[in-house]
Amino acid sequence: MAKIIDGKKISQQIKDELKEKAAKLKEQGKTGALAVIQVGQDPASSVYVRNKKNACAYIGIESLAYELPEETTEEELLKLIAELNEKEQVKGILVQLPLPGHICEDKVIQAISPCKDVDGFHPQSVGAMTIGEPGFLSCTPAGIIQLLKRSGVEIAGKHCVIIGRSNIVGKPMALLMLRENATVTITHSRTRNLKEVCQQADILIVAMGKPQFIGAEYVKEGAVVIDVGIHRDENNKLCGDVKFAEVESLASAITPVPGGVGPMTIAMLMNNCVQSIEEE
Ligand code: GUN
Repeated sequence: MAKIIDGKKISQQIKDELKEKAAKLKEQGKTGALAVIQVGQDPASSVYVRNKKNACAYIGIESLAYELPEETTEEELLKLIAELNEKEQVKGILVQLPLPGHICEDKVIQAISPCKDVDGFHPQSVGAMTIGEPGFLSCTPAGIIQLLKRSGVEIAGKHCVIIGRSNIVGKPMALLMLRENATVTITHSRTRNLKEVCQQADILIVAMGKPQFIGAEYVKEGAVVIDVGIHRDENNKLCGDVKFAEVESLASAITPVPGGVGPMTIAMLMNNCVQSIEEE
């Protein structure tokens, strides 16, 4: 039976460390706010935004909420970002994705000042991560690195197979695992022999966005399996991209859904906010 990698517990440890750090920075007169922008009322986004505001309150960082109507124009959003870029007290700017179809996400991401880009999505942040320069790391991949390290999983020299090549998970995940000296394979919807490639993984990171797709036949005995997916099954219960029950019986360690990767994303966002306050 696999060890369960407890993202809830590890994220709580990280948030407690950050709370302490934020309090120390406050004593030195270093404070700051995270601006959280939501356009429209996508229910999933509303949950994420609320969780981010709650995390700020827990750590002791101010959060400024901008809840904009669905009809907000790209120009209006870019204007708000430009104002927030100039505000000294604002140390982080987060625009919740996805945005309504009439707004270009790339344009919005690029409008955020890289020194306030706590999501780590700006091309400058991505470039810095690629060559190992300082900058904000993309939260979900950085959270997965923390999950592995704090669970005692050695990364160096291991074969890590990633399923998914998105800009917010797959690609930055590959770069961070490479930085930790793993041998990395990225697979995607056009990969041939996906099963055979996955069977070679010592660490399998699944971010394909297909509910309960990855079963035991994709997993080598003793592999570490990280499930980034989050979906609702036919009974409205949360589930991941991995068939947890059958993979658990042959993996050496596995993340559950919920309570695995999810809470780590917010913990790492808070880490980026505290880093931004520290570097002011
Ligand atoms: N939508 C889904 N995940 C994320 C995230 O990490 N950051 C933002 N801004 N939007 C998201």
